[in-house]
Amino acid sequence: MEHPCDKVLACCRKIAQCSQTPGETTRTFLCEAMHDCHRALRGWMQSLGMDSRVDAAGNLRGLYAGSDPAAGRLLIGSHLDTVPNAGAYDGVLGVVLGVALVESLAGKRMPFAIEVAGFSEEEGVRFGIPFLGSRALVGRMDETLLAAEDGAAISVERAIRDFGLDPAQLPAAVLDPHTFAYLEFHIEQGPVLESMNEPLGVVASIAGQTRLAVHFTGQAAHAGTTPMSLRRDALAGAARWIARVEEEARSTPGLVGTVGRLETKPGAGNVIPAEVSASLDVRHASDEIRTRAVDNLIAIGNDLALDRGLGFRIDRQLDQPSVEMDPALVSAAARALQKTGCRGHRMTSGAGHDAMILAEKIPSVMIFLRSPGGLSHHPEESVLPGDVQLALAAGLHFLNGF
Ligand code: HGY
Ligand code: MN
Ligand code: MN
Repeated sequence: MEHPCDKVLACCRKIAQCSQTPGETTRTFLCEAMHDCHRALRGWMQSLGMDSRVDAAGNLRGLYAGSDPAAGRLLIGSHLDTVPNAGAYDGVLGVVLGVALVESLAGKRMPFAIEVAGFSEEEGVRFGIPFLGSRALVGRMDETLLAAEDGAAISVERAIRDFGLDPAQLPAAVLDPHTFAYLEFHIEQGPVLESMNEPLGVVASIAGQTRLAVHFTGQAAHAGTTPMSLRRDALAGAARWIARVEEEARSTPGLVGTVGRLETKPGAGNVIPAEVSASLDVRHASDEIRTRAVDNLIAIGNDLALDRGLGFRIDRQLDQPSVEMDPALVSAAARALQKTGCRGHRMTSGAGHDAMILAEKIPSVMIFLRSPGGLSHHPEESVLPGDVQLALAAGLHFLNGF
């Protein structure tokens, strides 16, 4: 008999094969590979007597009915999309654990229904805008969002249609009004639980994050004939600014600042760069410190550009305030962890999660699983089988606590 934790890990590894890029795990919003991912999960859901559908935002929605229609619904979920060349557990583990938790009921019906959601897009890779899937559940998939385009000038709306879905059905993607709570299992993606030798933790709050696209514009010219004093080199200016991002983040406790993407034009070695687009990702548990840091980095960019005769422009892609998880659910989750022998450690998540979006509408909480090496957004991201087993046990205690 296959151990439940082994089935969870095997399913995550199988889904990791569903990729738009051969040889690695990359699954962005409504790519073709997401169909295979849905098929893998819907088969398992069906075997458990769950009804399943894919909503108009591409979220996989599985429903395990309760014994009392008046008892409402608990939502358990996470995201099925990934960053490029990802590991096998970021997001997916939370969805698979939701299905495995239903399986661990062994046919028993809780009074309330259990809905398991696999969100179509949380990372923000394809369109630069995160949480597309969970926004649909809280009714925030608006016209502006539907019109956003990816690098191939395909809009969100067109991507939904290309996947075989109908954007007109988005209203039906909204949370069932009787959904009383949201639980998200997720790998910690950081070093804290491992440093404490703790298998599981409870997320009490999620740090806020700002995501910008920053553009420097200069003048293309010949790399061999243009004296240094006569250049307007967009990349040299951007490089100075990127170094300041790191300096500012290092000098502010708890602040993280990252430039993860850099594009230069025309991109030839013998041409002085005319245009640079860079991403900026700034996070902090305090919204005041985060927004002050972002304003400061924008001012530094402006000053550098002025000094060097460059253009400087920013596009704001996300200003997500920090979010407190529901105190009663945090206590319930901590109790559930303690019943498995864990301490029930409460912590802040530096990573963003769909729980930030669901928390706008329903009480939400997250349970973290230890990340060996604190490694994530990396193909060697992992999770320990024993911790998965404890997460399932804690999940059952959490269900029985209502
Ligand atoms: O970037 C994040 O915080 C998460 O992995 N989406
Ligand atoms: Mn992620
Ligand atoms: Mn994630």
